[in-house]
Amino acid sequence: MKIIGTVSELKQAVAAARKASKTVGLVPTMGALHKGHLSLVKRATEENGFVVVSVFVNPTQFNNPEDLRTYPRTLEADVKLVESNTTADVVFAPSVEEMYPSKDTRMFDLSGVGEVMEGKMRPGHFNGVCQVVSKLFAFVTPDKAYFGEKDFQQIAVIRKMVRDCDFQIEIVDCPIVREDDGLAVSSRNVLLTPEHRAVAPRIHRVLAESTGKVKEMRPMELTKWVVSEVDAEPLLKVEYYEIVDGLSMQRIDSWEETDYAVGCITVQAGNVRLIDNIIYKKG
Ligand code: PAF
Repeated sequence: MKIIGTVSELKQAVAAARKASKTVGLVPTMGALHKGHLSLVKRATEENGFVVVSVFVNPTQFNNPEDLRTYPRTLEADVKLVESNTTADVVFAPSVEEMYPSKDTRMFDLSGVGEVMEGKMRPGHFNGVCQVVSKLFAFVTPDKAYFGEKDFQQIAVIRKMVRDCDFQIEIVDCPIVREDDGLAVSSRNVLLTPEHRAVAPRIHRVLAESTGKVKEMRPMELTKWVVSEVDAEPLLKVEYYEIVDGLSMQRIDSWEETDYAVGCITVQAGNVRLIDNIIYKKG
């Protein structure tokens, strides 16, 4: 496996793979890799002849400087993890200057899917995601790119960006990977205090229990129920919970309105923002 830090070397490696008639898969990450990322990389290696894993903490998608400062950076361990658990070909780990030789002033059209939930709570976040992902797509020109469903809304935003920019890339969404106690695996979990870590599995427990209440509650009632059940734990505070159409990301008022209903939650656990979701129905 090669570790590459420059765009020109990355393009050369991809060109050589293309010359050898290999399909190309891309797994974009911000590092601090865990078993959730590994599941994406493994899927990518099963489906492509050549796989690039990017590791880059993208400053333009952080709307909170403290969050950017404290985001875990573990490149050496990341490389070891990818190398010893997968057959990926390249880890692309550029510097900020390499990714952004000049200020990226591009504004993406986030109307609809990118305006609600995370889009509302974290101004600029999705624009930054589109900036970095579109650059990675341009450098790697992958056939397929892999994203985890934990960041459910992010996938909808990236699909829109792919349509708007006319990228010929298949976006592959991969199921959430969970710890044994149900907590969605996330790079941010290592930042939890032991007390917050102990109560964090409550989020998935409540979401899972809520699927049994669809017949008796309308989406708005169920939303309130989820918020009150999670908030009953004093160390957790729901930032938002919304039951939305899984494609448009718009809130639904009745279960009949869509055949794809998803509940998206963000919870503040001390200084750490945890994100998760649950699918109520998928037609
Ligand atoms: O999901 C993430 O880790 C990031 O938002 C991504 C897609 C790698 C872009 O920086």
